[in-house]
Amino acid sequence: VSDSAPIALLLVCGSVRQGSTNAALLNTIADLAPDDVIVVRYDALEQLPHFNPDLDGDSLPPAAAALRATIGASDAVLFSTPEYAGALPGSFKNLLDWSVGGGEIYEMPVGWLNASAGPTGGADAHNSLRIVLRYLSCQIVEDACIKVDVPRKVVSDGLVQSDQVRDQLSGALKALAEAAVTNRKRPS
Ligand SMILES: Cc1cc2nc3c(=O)[nH]c(=O)nc-3n(C[C@H](O)[C@H](O)[C@H](O)COP(=O)(O)O)c2cc1C
Repeated sequence: VSDSAPIALLLVCGSVRQGSTNAALLNTIADLAPDDVIVVRYDALEQLPHFNPDLDGDSLPPAAAALRATIGASDAVLFSTPEYAGALPGSFKNLLDWSVGGGEIYEMPVGWLNASAGPTGGADAHNSLRIVLRYLSCQIVEDACIKVDVPRKVVSDGLVQSDQVRDQLSGALKALAEAAVTNRKRPS
C-alpha cells in the first residue's frame, strides 16, 4: 500500500462455528494480503465475559483488556459476521460493547464482509452494525463494506476458492489499507 511502515489489519469474525463461511472470507483476506499488510486474527470472542459497565473500570477483565490492547495496536479493523434471528450474533455484539469504553477504535478505518446467502441475507445485522460502529465513532470505509455470496461449495481448506469472490475481497482489502495509510498521516 505504501513505502511506509506496514499496516496492522485486525480481522474479527462474528461466527465461532467450525467451518464458518465468514471465517473463510477472513482467511481469504489473510491469504490475499500483500507484504505491507500485517494481518492479526482476533480469536478470543468466546473468552469475553458478558459486558457489564460495573466491570468497565480500572481493573478490566483480562479478556476485555486484551481485546482493547489488540484493537489499539491495529490500524484498521475488518469484521465479517452472520445474522442471527434478524440481528447481530449476541457474542459479537458483546465484543462491540466492550470496544466502546477504551476508545481505541475511535476514528479507526473499519469495513465489514457479509457472507449471508440470498439478495437480502444479513441486511438487518449489517444495518445494525453500521449503527453500532457510528456509536463507536469509527471511520466506515464504504468500499470495504461488501456483501459476498459464498456458497459453501466454494469453501475448501478454509479458503474461498472463487476468483470472483477473491477479486471482490482484494478490492475491499485495498480500500481499507489505503484508508489506514491516510488515517495514519492525519495529525493527532
Ligand atoms: C439460529 C440462526 C438464526 C439465523 N438467522 C438468520 C437471519 O435472521 N438472517 C439471515 O440472513 N440468516 C440467518 N441465519 C443464517 C446464517 O446467517 C448463515 O447460516 C451464515 O452463513 C452463518 O455464518 P457462518 O457460516 O459464518 O457461521 C441464521 C442461522 C442460525 C443458525
